[in-house]
Amino acid sequence: MKIAVVGATGAIGRTFLKVLSERNFPMDELYLFASARSARQELECRGKIYKVEELDEHSFDRGVDIALFSAGGEISLKYAPIAAAEGCVVVDNSSAWRMKDDVPLVVPEVNPEDIKWHKGIIANPNCSTIQAVAALWPLHRAYGVKRIVYSTYQAVAGAGMSGVRDLEEGLKGGAPKKFPHPIAGNCLPQIDVFLEDGYTKEEEKMINETRKIMHAPELKATATCVRVPVFYGHSESINAEFEKPYDLAELRELLRNSPGIVVQDDPGAGIYPMPVNAAGADDVYVGRIRRDNSVESGVNLWVVSDSTRKGAAYNAIQIAELLSKNNLPWKRAIN
Ligand code: A2P
Repeated sequence: MKIAVVGATGAIGRTFLKVLSERNFPMDELYLFASARSARQELECRGKIYKVEELDEHSFDRGVDIALFSAGGEISLKYAPIAAAEGCVVVDNSSAWRMKDDVPLVVPEVNPEDIKWHKGIIANPNCSTIQAVAALWPLHRAYGVKRIVYSTYQAVAGAGMSGVRDLEEGLKGGAPKKFPHPIAGNCLPQIDVFLEDGYTKEEEKMINETRKIMHAPELKATATCVRVPVFYGHSESINAEFEKPYDLAELRELLRNSPGIVVQDDPGAGIYPMPVNAAGADDVYVGRIRRDNSVESGVNLWVVSDSTRKGAAYNAIQIAELLSKNNLPWKRAIN
């Protein structure tokens, strides 16, 4: 299969190359694209060196089967339709296409069936949303989630290489360039821009994307998203209220048996998920599992995962694997 990575030099682009190197994905050829700034830069994947090319309108007219995009919303808006018109399936990590009605938004552990109705573009959800729905889905199926309160503690890598640099430089006393305030020694209750209702776009994304992925348009949800001085690994406090009563031991067992979930929950022994342990791994770690005693049937969870892996590159490559297993490259699916 011919694979392209758009935004190959970025934080997620580089993680695509790492994940492709680790997995047995059926890749015969690989093309790397970024801006003119990085053209001719060399990057490694599966022990081979590839030259980065400048992205343009003709980048996909060489029979590319799947293009993994992570170069920001504007690039996706412009180039994803161009790639799709060439018969390529785009798995897009930006927010540009996620809420469009004819674009599936997919977390393979939750709604793998949605890849079947793609029309050339499949959206990879927001990083904080992916780990949240991965943990909530088995509980939703068993007990019916009716309300969610998200509070996030998000790593700087979620903002790309420039976010990582802001923390590195900030720790040495440098001024921020990416974030509106210093991130070293600080917490910023702002991720993305503010909307008219006082929420940030990140908070709105978590709410809307959760509903779309779980096929639950009526679900009540609210969110507060905070950037914290952590390099890799988003942490989330998730409070969920259920329709049905539940047994706590059974809920824990349900999570333990869910794909992609690792339960780390022995607080007495100091065992709970932490970003330093999740960084570089693909799983979603869940701990601090306890009843919310303020409602009839509710639970509190602490959910941690690497936003560059399950929150972005790994989830996108899982989607690409589903496409290849279902023999679904677009040009073969259309007549
Ligand atoms: P470049 O390194 O050439 O700027 P991050 O999210 O880590 O900031 O990465 C963004 C990615 O998007 C980088 O690979 C970046 O390439 C790429 N990118 C930014 N602008 C463009 C553009 N105009 N055309 C193609 N790729 C772009």
